[in-house]
Amino acid sequence: MSGLRADSGISIARIWPYSADLRAGDKAVGAEPGDLRRCSLFASALSATAILHAQSLVEDMSGCRKAKKARAKDTHDRGPDWYKDAVIYQLHVRAFYDSNNDGVGDFCGLAEKLDYIKDLGVNAIWLLPFYESPLRDDGYDISDYKAINPAYGTLDDFRDFVEAAHARDIRIITELVVNHSSDQHPWFERARNAPPGSPERDYYVWSETGDEFEKARIIFLDSEVSNWSWDPVAKAYYWHRFYACQPDLNFDNPLVIREIKDLLKFWLDLGVDGFRLDAVPYLVERDGTNSENLRETHSVLKLIRSEVERLRPDCVLLAEANQPPESTLSYFGKGDECQMAFHFPLMPRLFIALAQEDREPIVDIIEQTRALPDACQWALFLRNHDELTLEMVTEEERKYLWHVYATHRRLRINLGIRRRLATLLNGDRRRIELMNSLLFSLNGSPVIYYGDEIGMGDNPFLGDRDGVRTPMQWSADRNAGFSCADYVDLYLPPIEHRFFAYDIVNVDEQRKMRSSLLNWMRWIIKVRRSHPAFARGEITFLAPANKKVLAYLRSYEGETLLCVINLSETAQAAELDLAEWAGCVPVEMFGGCAFPAIREEPYTITLPGREFLWLKLFPADQVDPARGVPHEAMDRPDLPAADKPVPPRPREKEGGRSDNPASNRK
Ligand code: NOJ
Repeated sequence: MSGLRADSGISIARIWPYSADLRAGDKAVGAEPGDLRRCSLFASALSATAILHAQSLVEDMSGCRKAKKARAKDTHDRGPDWYKDAVIYQLHVRAFYDSNNDGVGDFCGLAEKLDYIKDLGVNAIWLLPFYESPLRDDGYDISDYKAINPAYGTLDDFRDFVEAAHARDIRIITELVVNHSSDQHPWFERARNAPPGSPERDYYVWSETGDEFEKARIIFLDSEVSNWSWDPVAKAYYWHRFYACQPDLNFDNPLVIREIKDLLKFWLDLGVDGFRLDAVPYLVERDGTNSENLRETHSVLKLIRSEVERLRPDCVLLAEANQPPESTLSYFGKGDECQMAFHFPLMPRLFIALAQEDREPIVDIIEQTRALPDACQWALFLRNHDELTLEMVTEEERKYLWHVYATHRRLRINLGIRRRLATLLNGDRRRIELMNSLLFSLNGSPVIYYGDEIGMGDNPFLGDRDGVRTPMQWSADRNAGFSCADYVDLYLPPIEHRFFAYDIVNVDEQRKMRSSLLNWMRWIIKVRRSHPAFARGEITFLAPANKKVLAYLRSYEGETLLCVINLSETAQAAELDLAEWAGCVPVEMFGGCAFPAIREEPYTITLPGREFLWLKLFPADQVDPARGVPHEAMDRPDLPAADKPVPPRPREKEGGRSDNPASNRK
């Protein structure tokens, strides 16, 4: 991407070495806040600390009381396929903002931060589980499906939060975790005490021997040795695909289906706009099969879909199906199951392509997964709250990815890698931007994991996947500005390790710095959302001889966008066959600069290492070669302005020179 321009017209990126030291970063900020992309993420962030007396974030929401007053606006006026245009922000309530200083984030805190989320440019939030739970799997072990975990607030707080989000045109997607419940759910308590064969007992899946379904793999390989566990009360084995504290519900029991329908109505009545279907491939189990993706599971899904369709036709169902391409695709059904599914087949291949500097893994998987029913859409993601899962790649690919991204055993869990995006990419700003450019331009709706927009790090010393679930880093203040509780009361410690420490990487600092990752993310999201072809367009790959260069067209209703990505660490050139577009002029989408017109002959593009270009193709008569296209025609948002730092008072020195470098500039 060549769009970030230095205000001075001189690209600092071209002058600084990639790993500019922190002093260089400081000087640059003082000298000219411009393109700092060659400066590492952390240098950029640290240098922002040199801007003294900066004003704090302006939050015009001051809590739930205000949220309650937020204008209730009907946000359901867009089409029922709103999710195609969604940019989704995934977060955990407990990790976001603590309004009552008990060390745990809550709905009131989240409501206070809605303007931050809105300002980022996203229009949907996916909330990780917030229900009552013993939290042995971070809330994916639910003990009451209709209650909020009291540490996060009340149902009223939730209702107010949804209303405040809707008032900002932000949709809310919650979790439907019904493959299993917690073993502390009253249904399980009742089942283990009920007579074998009774409807109450059969809410769960029991066995006298624990010999059935032996072809089903174990998913939590690091902690479980069997999918059956002995229950001394029932004097029988119960089935669980995840932790033993998460017994699987029995979808062969019509009463269970009835409970699920009841839950759907309950949450839809509270204003929820969609559900992520947790662990959906495992709903039904059958002997002699691997008990994944069964026909019976798809039948349950069709029932769920028709129920939500009946209650709220614009409610989206998002499948969490970590499966091979064909099976993942099956969760769209014929347009009668989920409207969305996470693109699990693509995600690890993005990391392979980056490491191998080869576009093939990306092109290949997208070609295999391009045919979706009409109203359906992929959900694209780079990272989430789980490990970077490598269950569905070959053994060879897995070893390769471990070797590149997680050499130390501590960085792995089960078959995956428990690291955040920024740490996976060594804090390399170019690679972080490159991967995000793919997230925002490939075919699907992007999902951003909270904190990745500022390049948050992780803590591999925390258990399970907690290392990537630490508090949001708002500022350099105590507890990262997340909570005023005592440190020992925090649900998890904030990241304090070197380059990723919260006093360096935080929202406050990055808001002040024009070229920060946060501002760059705000910009790229704006550009993406201004061009419907990214959300809804066809994707067509070009095939330049240079395989380190990935190039594709996104086209929709007369708009054609050309994306060119250099996956290599070093500069590359590629010749693109754009003969079909001869006569058109590509215009760079961040800066509006017109490129040479396309002719019948191959079109040469050159890119520095790990850079990308987004170009919009215009008929030649719409472009003035000297000035590009009119701003309106491009629908081009500018780089969002940084929060204005309060300028330090110039200290007069002898000879009248001030200490403030900005004031010494001509
Ligand atoms: C998938 C969730 O993403 C993960 O965090 C959880 O542990 C399992 N499902 C079990 O619910």
